[in-house]
Amino acid sequence: MKPKQTNIERFSGHVSSGDRAALLGQRPLTVWLTGLSASGKSTIGYALERRLLSLGHACYVLDGDNLRHGLNRDLGFSVTERRENIRRTAEMAKLLNDAGLIVIAALISPRRDDRAMAREIIGDSLFVEIYLSTPLDTCEQRDPKGLYARARCGEIAEFTGISAPYETPLDPDLTFDTSRTEIHASVSLIVEHLQSR
Ligand SMILES: Nc1ncnc2c1ncn2[C@@H]1O[C@H](COP(=O)(O)OP(=O)(O)OP(=O)(O)O)[C@@H](O)[C@H]1O
Ligand SMILES: [Mg+2]
Repeated sequence: MKPKQTNIERFSGHVSSGDRAALLGQRPLTVWLTGLSASGKSTIGYALERRLLSLGHACYVLDGDNLRHGLNRDLGFSVTERRENIRRTAEMAKLLNDAGLIVIAALISPRRDDRAMAREIIGDSLFVEIYLSTPLDTCEQRDPKGLYARARCGEIAEFTGISAPYETPLDPDLTFDTSRTEIHASVSLIVEHLQSR
């Protein structure tokens, strides 16, 4: 999307994104975790941050719920607002990648189009899509925030998996069903994948 204003120009600085990445001694990437509520995105995202940090990497988690307390506090869960939520998060991930950081984004991001937009904003070569394929019945049994119960009673509208669709990724880089894979095993497989890229 083009900027609304036409009378703006980019100003180039004297430090490149390569310079910043070299200073940190790493290659920036965005690990985009998608899946139903309670599929394990935040749990795995923050465990991955911990593991990467212990391996000497500078990273940052962009967690959907956390961003909705600040940057995205004005957005709801309609299709348009979810898209804007993802656009802002992807733009933030792009800035943090430009700063040299490894970004871990943990958002339901239920629509293929919206994830494709995130990939386009961040850049195909930097975007790693990880699908948490945990079945709905497991997510609903876990229900750590009590949201499925409320959605089933009709107290929450447009709840992904209940009253709003989730579009399965067609070609994710990795897939984990967290009802079958233990947290630290998933994290190890993600780290191996990142190291192989
Ligand atoms: N193998 C596993 N991997 C990840 N999470 C697991 C696993 N086994 C059990 N869990 C539990 O499942 C729950 C996953 O919740 P979590 O908040 O991480 O989901 P989420 O995908 O971030 O949901 P939301 O979209 O609502 O933010 C946690 O309570 C976690 O402890
Ligand atoms: Mg979460």
